[in-house]
Amino acid sequence: MMRIIINTHFAFSSVLCSFVLLLFIANTAIAEMAEPNTAATVSAQQQSRGAYLARAGNCKGCHTAKGGLPFAGGRQLSTAFGIFVTPNITPDNETGIGHWNQDDFWQALHEGKSRDGRLLYPAFPYTEYTKVTRKDANAMFEYLQSLAPISQDNASSNVKFPYNFKPLLYLWRNLYFKQGVYQADKSESEEWNRGAYLVQGLGHCNACHTTRNLVGASDEETLSGGQVMGVNWYAPSLASHLEAGGGDWSIEEISELLATGISERAVASGPMATIIKQSLQHLSPEDVRAMAVYLKSLTEHDHSISPSVEFSVMSGSLRNQLQQGGQIYKQYCEECHGASGQGVPGIYPPLAGNRSVVMASPLNTIRSVLNGGYPATTKGNPQPYGMPPFQQILRDKEVALVVSYIRNTWGNNGGLITAIDVDRVKGGHK
Ligand code: HEC
Ligand code: HEC
Ligand code: HEC
Repeated sequence: MMRIIINTHFAFSSVLCSFVLLLFIANTAIAEMAEPNTAATVSAQQQSRGAYLARAGNCKGCHTAKGGLPFAGGRQLSTAFGIFVTPNITPDNETGIGHWNQDDFWQALHEGKSRDGRLLYPAFPYTEYTKVTRKDANAMFEYLQSLAPISQDNASSNVKFPYNFKPLLYLWRNLYFKQGVYQADKSESEEWNRGAYLVQGLGHCNACHTTRNLVGASDEETLSGGQVMGVNWYAPSLASHLEAGGGDWSIEEISELLATGISERAVASGPMATIIKQSLQHLSPEDVRAMAVYLKSLTEHDHSISPSVEFSVMSGSLRNQLQQGGQIYKQYCEECHGASGQGVPGIYPPLAGNRSVVMASPLNTIRSVLNGGYPATTKGNPQPYGMPPFQQILRDKEVALVVSYIRNTWGNNGGLITAIDVDRVKGGHK
C-alpha cells in the first residue's frame, strides 16, 4: 500500500516535474522567441509614435526644401531678421544629426541649443516645443534616427545685422524665453489638458497667432493674434470671439475646421491651410477634439463687443460707395458666394457672418480678393474648389469697394477700406 502511495506520489511528482519542466522549456522558448521581438515591437511603436508627434509639430514642413527630400532641410524662411535656412535633421553623420544622442536632441528642442551649445534662433519654434515632454521628444528622436540618412549640405542662414550678433540672442533669451515642460492644470479635464499641451507645445500655434515685437519676441498674452512674420498674412486671435476664438462654436465645428480646413462658417487659407494639410489633418480625432475643447475654452467667457461701425445716418456718398461695391459683387462674386453671401456649405465659404471678413484687420480679405486661393487639400476635403485671383481684373479702387461692401452688408459690421489699404497689401508692408 505504502509503496503504491509512494509510487503514485513519485509518479505524480514526476508528472508534475516534467510538466513544470515543459512549462519552463515552453516559457523559455516563448521568451527566446519574444525577447528580440518585444524590443523590436517596442521600438517600432516608439518610432510610429514619434512619426505621429513629428506630424503634430510639422517638423517636415519646415525641414524640407521646396521639392526637396523630406527632413533634409534647406528650406528658406524669410523673416524680418534675415533668411533662415533649415538644417538637415536626417541621421546623416556629416550633414545631419547622425552623431546626436537623445540628450543632444532634448537640448535642442527643450533649451534651444545645438549639440555644440550654439544658441539657436527662435525661427525654430523651440519657444513652444520647450513644453514637449521628454518622453515625446525621445519618441521623435527615435523616429528621426530610423529614417534613411540623407547627405545634404545646406547653405547657412543669412541673418541680418544686428540680429547676427550672438550676444543679442543671449540677451533675447534671458528676456523672453521661458523654458519648461507643459504643466497640467489640475482644475481642468484630461481632455482639456491634452488640447492645451498640443496647442501650446508641438502645434506651435503661438508661433504665428501672436504679435511679435521688434526683436521677434511674442506678446505676454498668447494666441492673441498678429501678423505672421515674414509673410503678408494676419493670424487672427484665437483668444477673442471677434476674430477666430471658438467660444460660440461647437466643439464639432472647431474640430471640423482643424481636421478638414473647411466648415460651414469658415475656411482656412494661406499658411493656415498649409498647417492643416501638412499637420493637423493627420492627427487622431481624439487629439483634434482635445484641441477644440481647449480652444473653445479660451473665449467661452469673452463677451467683448465689436467696435461698432454703425452708419445710423448713412451719408449719400457712403450709400453710393456700398452700392457700387454691390454691383461689383453681383458681377464677379455672387455666382460662388451667393446673393446674400451665404456661400455653399463645404464648397464656397459664406461671407455673411464670416469673422475673418469682418475682423479689424482687412489684410487677409484683401489678399483673398487679389490673389484668390485654395483651401487645404485634406482627406475630409480632397478636391477643394478654388477662388480665382482678381488682381488683374479689378483696379485697387474696385477691390476697395467690393471689400467694403462684403464687410458691411448682410449684417456684417466691418469698416470701410480704401484703395490705399489695397495698395499696402500689394506692397507687402503693413
Ligand atoms: C517654423 C519652422 C520650423 C519648424 C516647424 C521646425 N523647425 Fe527645426 N529648425 C528650424 C530652423 C530655422 C532651425 C535653425 C535654427 C538656427 O540655426 O538657429 C531649426 C533647427 C532645428 C534643430 C537643430 C539642428 C542643429 O543642427 O542644431 C533641430 C534638432 C530641429 N530643428 C528639429 C525640429 C523638430 C524635431 C521639429 C518638429 C517638432 C522642428 N525642428 C520643427 C525651423 C523649424
Ligand atoms: C504658419 C503660421 C500659423 C500656424 C503655425 C498656425 N496658424 Fe492658424 N492661422 C494662420 C493664418 C495666417 C490664419 C488666417 C488665415 C485664415 O483665416 O485661414 C490662421 C487662421 C486660423 C483660424 C481661423 C480660421 C478661420 O478662417 O476662421 C484658426 C481657428 C486657427 N488658425 C487655428 C490654429 C491652431 C489651433 C494652430 C496650432 C495647431 C494654428 N492655427 C497654427 C497662421 C498659422
Ligand atoms: C469661382 C468661385 C469664386 C468666385 C467667383 C469668388 N470666390 Fe471668393 N472664394 C472662393 C473659394 C473656393 C474660397 C476659399 C479659398 C481659400 O480658402 O483660399 C473663397 C474665399 C474668399 C474669401 C476668404 C474667406 C475666408 O473665410 O477666409 C473672401 C473674402 C472672398 N472669397 C471674397 C470674394 C469676392 C469679394 C469675390 C468677387 C470679387 C469672390 N470671392 C469671388 C470662391 C470664389
